Amino acid sequence: MAFFDESFDSVAPAEGRVEGVAKVTGKGKYAAEYEVRGVCYAVLVDSSIASGTIKNINLQNAKQVAGVIDIVTHQHKPQVPGLADEAKIKESRFGLPVFHTDKIYFKGQPIAIVIADTLENATYAASLVTADYDTTPFKVDFEKEHPLNPLAHAGKERGSLDSWNNLPHIVEASYNIKAEVHNPMEMHATIAHWISNDRLKLFDKNQGVNNVQRSFARLFNIPEKNIEVFSEFVGGGFGSGLRVWPGALAAVMAAKQVNRPVKLMLTRPQMFHSVGYRPASWQKVKMGADNEGNIAGVWHQAKNGTSVYESFGEGITRVTRLIYKFPNLKAESAIVPLNLSTPTWMRGPGDCTGDFAIESAIDELSYQIGMDPVQLRLKNLALDKNPDSGLPWSTNFIDECIKKGAAMIDWTQRKNKPGQTRDGDWSTGYGMAVGMWNAGRGNASAGIEMRKDGSITVQTAMTDIGTGTGTGMYNIAHEVTGIPKSKIKIELGNSTLPPAPSQGGSTGLSSVSGAVVAVCSALKLKLAEYAATINEKYKGVTAADVLLSENGISLKSANTELVSYSQIWSKNNLTVIDLEASSGPGEERKQYAFCSSAAHFCKVRVNTKTGKLKVEKLVCVADGGKIVNEKAAANQMSGAAVGGIGMALMEEQVADGHLGGLVGNDLAGYHFAVNADAPIIDVAFIGKPDVNINPTGAKGLGEVGIIGVAAAISNAIYNATGKRLRDLPITPDKILDKS
Ligand code: MOS
Repeated sequence: MAFFDESFDSVAPAEGRVEGVAKVTGKGKYAAEYEVRGVCYAVLVDSSIASGTIKNINLQNAKQVAGVIDIVTHQHKPQVPGLADEAKIKESRFGLPVFHTDKIYFKGQPIAIVIADTLENATYAASLVTADYDTTPFKVDFEKEHPLNPLAHAGKERGSLDSWNNLPHIVEASYNIKAEVHNPMEMHATIAHWISNDRLKLFDKNQGVNNVQRSFARLFNIPEKNIEVFSEFVGGGFGSGLRVWPGALAAVMAAKQVNRPVKLMLTRPQMFHSVGYRPASWQKVKMGADNEGNIAGVWHQAKNGTSVYESFGEGITRVTRLIYKFPNLKAESAIVPLNLSTPTWMRGPGDCTGDFAIESAIDELSYQIGMDPVQLRLKNLALDKNPDSGLPWSTNFIDECIKKGAAMIDWTQRKNKPGQTRDGDWSTGYGMAVGMWNAGRGNASAGIEMRKDGSITVQTAMTDIGTGTGTGMYNIAHEVTGIPKSKIKIELGNSTLPPAPSQGGSTGLSSVSGAVVAVCSALKLKLAEYAATINEKYKGVTAADVLLSENGISLKSANTELVSYSQIWSKNNLTVIDLEASSGPGEERKQYAFCSSAAHFCKVRVNTKTGKLKVEKLVCVADGGKIVNEKAAANQMSGAAVGGIGMALMEEQVADGHLGGLVGNDLAGYHFAVNADAPIIDVAFIGKPDVNINPTGAKGLGEVGIIGVAAAISNAIYNATGKRLRDLPITPDKILDKS
């Protein structure tokens, strides 16, 4: 059931962020900015080897530094029950047994945490900690290691591989993508405060306070309700905040050890090896089509790096099962253990990687067949049903995204033959690719507090990592209740509020919006119930019939006199109305498949003498269902697309084959797209609500903003130069390479 009616525009107006002023004025507090009485400062000491055993940690010099309170190591630590032995570690699902082992799995692994009265003293003392190790050989080079790891089936095979081997058009190629790091602007930080022996309060940078709560409850074997997590403002995440990392646990252990609140903020170099990354990957795709452009089959093989202490599969072949009919499909995958920290979900995880290979191969096929890549895609889309589950799509307007995008970039300007548009040393080309993402939804709760002056506060524990979740909730609360926006406040990002899933996987608004609709409806009914004590006409009315305004309640259907909030409050002796409601996925998930999608078109200019490349124009058209706030949604799309430019052209986390660890672990050495690298990005939405997914019809954006961008750019480079580049990032040397 949709909350909007016919008159309600499914692309809601562009408006500023509810948290905008707090963020730009510095009023909004990030995790490390809270002031906690008696806080002391912690600094991590990282291992200097990539593999081996700690023989001895030398603390004497560090301990002499003024202000040092204590130093936690594996030999001197508060015991964490969830890390007590192998079985417990498995149960707690934490991964790295922080300070509970003498084993070193990767360079940068925390071996000690120094706690001092000031950050300066802690930093200096940490610099004096050294260790002696027994070293063992390490592996960090994904490209060298992956051939040794055999592939296994990834999901069910469709049709047969042999059935399309003799088709006239076959493309077969390998694709390599280097590891990439999240690096949100706000670095990961934790203030850990043990209020008592089994009660913990955390100010922490993350993407899901309830997840942090659950993780620490498992580790310390204490009830979840004993742990409070505050993450009210988050300076970006991109997936790095979707789990609890060793640094946060180290801070919690340090606080336990010194029995004082402890603040730890990672340094920028530590951000590179401590909070996940998109793993390096290898893929091979074979694809075949007939002369009419019917793609009969695909064989997709994929491998990604992981750590030696945890298994992380990125899910690279998932997207291959989603977009196109592919009557014959075989997918295989493997993970490759390396002496690096564990990777994690990052910006369109898995699909972003797999989509690059598939969308490159389809482009290649289009030139081979001599068919426009737009037409080839339109011909092969699985528009009626999810080809894997067989369930009909609730809504899928990827074809409309493609058609709209082609018009917006003026696709007719594209030359079919590559390298045809030259201007001196510069070549111009057009490329396109599509992306899709399973549109998920989780159980979420929202609360509402209303006061006598008619003002309301809408609450949820969900964090807002910059995507506009709070602003979306604000728009929805206004639409459903009718209460003017000036009287609506939003509170999020702390675990004392009604529980909600983590913000990730483009599910945030899709999950929480249902709860906001539910609690707003509950408020209408509650107020009608109270109003009925004054005017009988309000008895037994439906939420849809109730209209709230600045001053009071009225009915849409009947010409009732407005009952003011102050009448209701006096008559019923109220102080605050406080309600909570939940909403989640249900039967519709058995009847329909859900997806968000996008088409990305780009125009590039390539200097054939220098290899310099300029993305001239980028057009992104998305089907995200109902768009709750156009400005926030467009901002999310263009931000994601800039990430796609980085992925295509710059981002590369280099592992050090000689010493282990990483090379260039700072923002000078790790290049990503900045304003100068990004053109004006034209974003448009289809804006058709998905009435089955949740009560708002919003399907979720974010991931689809990046999935497909790298292939669109690479395909445009081919159109400009005739050079097919299958390894990311596409740096100038690769464009110039004549081999
Ligand atoms: Mo993300 S990888 O949806 O935070």
